[in-house]
Amino acid sequence: MSGTVPLSEYTKIDLRSDTLSLLTTGMRRVMAEADVGDDVWGGDPTTRRLEGHCAELLGKEAALFTTSGTLSNQLALRVHTAPGDEVITDTKYHVNFYESAASAGLASVALNTVDSIDGVLTPELLDFALQRKERKHLYAAPKLVCLENTVNFHSGRVVSCDSLRRLRRRTLDAGLTTHLDGARLVNASIASGVSLTDFGETADTISICFAKGLAAPFGSILAGPSELIEKAAAHRAAYGGGLHQSGVLAAAALYALQHNIGRLAEDHGNAQLLGRLLCQHPAFRIALDTIQTNILVADVSMPGLTAAEFVRAAAGEGVLLAERTATSFRAVTRLGVDEAAIRTAAQRLLTLADRMRGPAVA
Ligand SMILES: Cc1ncc(COP(=O)(O)O)c(C=O)c1O
Repeated sequence: MSGTVPLSEYTKIDLRSDTLSLLTTGMRRVMAEADVGDDVWGGDPTTRRLEGHCAELLGKEAALFTTSGTLSNQLALRVHTAPGDEVITDTKYHVNFYESAASAGLASVALNTVDSIDGVLTPELLDFALQRKERKHLYAAPKLVCLENTVNFHSGRVVSCDSLRRLRRRTLDAGLTTHLDGARLVNASIASGVSLTDFGETADTISICFAKGLAAPFGSILAGPSELIEKAAAHRAAYGGGLHQSGVLAAAALYALQHNIGRLAEDHGNAQLLGRLLCQHPAFRIALDTIQTNILVADVSMPGLTAAEFVRAAAGEGVLLAERTATSFRAVTRLGVDEAAIRTAAQRLLTLADRMRGPAVA
């Protein structure tokens, strides 16, 4: 129940995702003691408190507690658009990579995706997306730009507030609204020193997740103008996401915001450490300067070996990684995996690489 697992040679070190962090004793206590009502009847006081607190943190009029980051994104698409509209986003963002079927099914929108090099959607890429197609009143009209920060696929890269502000000017000129998928925006804030409120100014609606680095068991928030959040509440109910005594879960999210933001710097340091340790072996190619938050992406350079095979072999050595592409894996640092665990994981992976590819120095 505590934050960190004591290590033995048999302990599995699970670096597949930051969603794997477990509840701490303090978090369980506030959940048990949460003041609850029925949120569907508008009467859950802890949920009201969470929503009010998040709206203030993000500088928005209102906020809605949702079951997941995916639901927050899907509600945002739904309230910003009408069926048949177009949404511009990056190919690698979660909303396209993992939610394109949901976007088509629920909001009935078409995604117009661009391939940025580093996960940063620039005004130039936006212009490209707008101009690459013939625009006539009979065709899909672009309405919304969907952004992501940090960028999961690109090693948890932080998109700077300046870059978001430049894009914001261009989207407003083009008459488009913006949703920012900030599943890990708190990581971006800690890594960059930019407040959540400053990031909040760069988009009309913003979502953040509580069950990633913040280590709550569940949930996300969608913040924005009252009118849109009211509509989102109606769609949340229609999607089956209305919760009754949600205060139990809102209490965990509030606890996470109070206790687990500052410690994210530790996760970021551990991701850097893991990168530096693995770089000692030529089997791993890692762009260390891209590790800005808690996600490390490594290319496995072993002739005839796929990333999937390496990930399987690593699991056999007690280190769980996530396959990312045919040649790369992802490791995510989080509460419950401390510096000692990171050093042990690195040692196991270096030993495995020696065995599979030959030692770094002959
Ligand atoms: C950037 C981003 N957005 C949204 C999500 C979806 O969050 P959830 O798993 O809570 O649906 C994730 C999940 O990893 C994510 O990385």
